[in-house]
Amino acid sequence: MKELAVHGGVPVRTEPFPARGHVGVEEKEVVAALFETAMASGAAPGYNGEEEQAYCEAFSAFMGGGYTDAVSSGTAGVYVALRALELEPFTEVIVSAVTDPGGMMPIPLLNLIPMVADTAPGCYNSGPDQIAALLSPRTIAIVVAHIGGEPADMVGIMEIARSRGIPVIEDCSQSHGARLHGQPLGTFGDIAVFSTMFGKHHSSGGQGGLVWTREETCYHQLRRASDRGKPFFLPEGATNVFASLNLNLNDLAAAIGRVQLRKLPAFVQRRREVVARLTEGLEDQGCVSVPRPLDGAEPSYWFLRMRFHPERSSVDKATFCQALSAEGLPVTADYRAALPHTMDWFVNRRVFGRSGYPWASPDYRGAPDRVFLCPNAHVAMETHFNLQIHEAWAAQEIADAVMIFQKVTAAYAA
Ligand SMILES: Cc1ncc(COP(=O)(O)O)c(C=O)c1O
Repeated sequence: MKELAVHGGVPVRTEPFPARGHVGVEEKEVVAALFETAMASGAAPGYNGEEEQAYCEAFSAFMGGGYTDAVSSGTAGVYVALRALELEPFTEVIVSAVTDPGGMMPIPLLNLIPMVADTAPGCYNSGPDQIAALLSPRTIAIVVAHIGGEPADMVGIMEIARSRGIPVIEDCSQSHGARLHGQPLGTFGDIAVFSTMFGKHHSSGGQGGLVWTREETCYHQLRRASDRGKPFFLPEGATNVFASLNLNLNDLAAAIGRVQLRKLPAFVQRRREVVARLTEGLEDQGCVSVPRPLDGAEPSYWFLRMRFHPERSSVDKATFCQALSAEGLPVTADYRAALPHTMDWFVNRRVFGRSGYPWASPDYRGAPDRVFLCPNAHVAMETHFNLQIHEAWAAQEIADAVMIFQKVTAAYAA
């Protein structure tokens, strides 16, 4: 058996795995063109201009219709979606345990109480049962994250939500272009949010986000919520309708996003192919396996979630992943070492100074000290790692990845 690189042997892969290279000449040219126009006219590139409108229209078409508002980040998108719903404070919003802090923080920032839903067993996404377990007369909205490009069970979740008339926000920040039962993810709920920061499937530059809805009246609210409550779509003479922040995107970013959006279907297609080849190559690999996605799911794989089976290995997951990394494979051993609701900000209630609000408000009728144990989520974190696949992986990368897994699983077989 070849010696593992982690023990001084020769790594399978000496060349680094390729960078995505997803931003190129086309993006540069559209930005340059905007600068040319700005310099010729003497007016700086702005926001809510033609580029942004075209980007939003193109994204709506990508979703099969509806309306899109471009915002400054995914976090801003979640804030805008919640703000647009004008939810009464000190009510409860159910939110997925495995998410980015930016997918959860807007909830208490709007004086709403986050109720943290465990994941479905064996995966990163919360499911209908975990959401149903948190319903109360105070439940006012649900925010469902689709992690790593894998769809959560939106059919089951929407059944629960519709039966109670509770609006659902799908956080698709990590799942651009994914589908479930042939339907684009994001179109099951009432509002969908996408982060378009530079690392996402398609990006609008450094930071950015999109908020989508099929309902025109909801879109009007979204537009107001992302721009200081401006009286968009209201009769002449109306003034800013509610307090909000300025969370607009801008035309430069939108121009980049528009080019990127054209590339998105090919990115997603290639990611699926890469995962299909890897899955074939990784059958019977002892202590690792590629989990099956939900029935009817067509994930878009922001990364590939992989299962580690400790009972089939002589080492723990951390040691195993270190050995993979030493062979040159881009892996993240712990997707979320700390889930957002176990972080200091949440545990110490650091949202509005030291007041403990929104939990501490006398107007909150639930249990302010409730702890969310989320056992499935913790098991999922302990028994999975992420492989950072992407569309620039060619046959060589796939072959090398398979070889690395073969080498390391053989060395560490139980
Ligand atoms: C599920 C989820 N929600 C929200 C966000 C926040 O997006 P942004 O970083 O664009 O603010 C992210 C970021 O990765 C995310 O993964």
